[in-house]
Amino acid sequence: MRTKIVAGNWKMNLDVDASKQLAKDISVDIQNLETNNTRIIIAPTATNLYPVSHQVGMDTRIELAAQNMHQAKNGAFTGEISAEMIRSVGVTNVILGHSERRAYFGEHNDTLAEKVTTALQNKMEVIFCFGEHLKQRQKKLHFSTVLSQINEGLFHLNKEDWKHIILAYEPVWAIGTGETATPEQAQEMHEYIRTIISGKYDKETAQNVSILYGGSVKPSNAKEIFSQADVDGGLIGGAALNSTDFVALVKAIQ
Ligand code: PGA
Repeated sequence: MRTKIVAGNWKMNLDVDASKQLAKDISVDIQNLETNNTRIIIAPTATNLYPVSHQVGMDTRIELAAQNMHQAKNGAFTGEISAEMIRSVGVTNVILGHSERRAYFGEHNDTLAEKVTTALQNKMEVIFCFGEHLKQRQKKLHFSTVLSQINEGLFHLNKEDWKHIILAYEPVWAIGTGETATPEQAQEMHEYIRTIISGKYDKETAQNVSILYGGSVKPSNAKEIFSQADVDGGLIGGAALNSTDFVALVKAIQ
């Protein structure tokens, strides 16, 4: 059975002290919350994964994710971080394929497919992001865009691998813009995603994968989006940068 997830992508924000403070605030603010059936994941920048994992300490309700990783085991890749390095600081989740990585760092589906494989080989869970640009939606190419992103990035996996995949549908036009997909648009796409996974694998695989929505989710719109049948939570940017809003989103999914 799939789980509900609220994941905060801190992007390139917060220094080490601010990151530790935010993790601490979240830990305190969820203290009296019944969060049994919801995974709470935070993704600080790479330099802060280790200190934040120490800060979170024994609070097993909070998991950490890296925002990116390289597909190779190790070697001459200046500025990059390997799966092993991420695991060595106790982190077992990684965000791959975020639209900012695709747009500004030239990440394509073929590289992402390799990254996914490497992450799974290193016993990590992958939050795999994809979504269409505004022009693609206007030309009614949003379904075919998402189909090719999932097909090229993930359909080399076997059924078993899918137990370690979390999907994040993030229409690019809704990220950091204040513009959100309507709950109906999110539901329509999430339902479509389950259909294509079911077609490639089977119904069980499609039903068991958690599909998050991302793009300007905030306390004022979260409940409506999260209440859609095929929306299992959110990947949150801006509203993940303060505990009050982030924890409000965790509450919105209960
Ligand atoms: P946003 O970012 O919530 O600030 O739109 C979402 C994301 O990039 O994952």
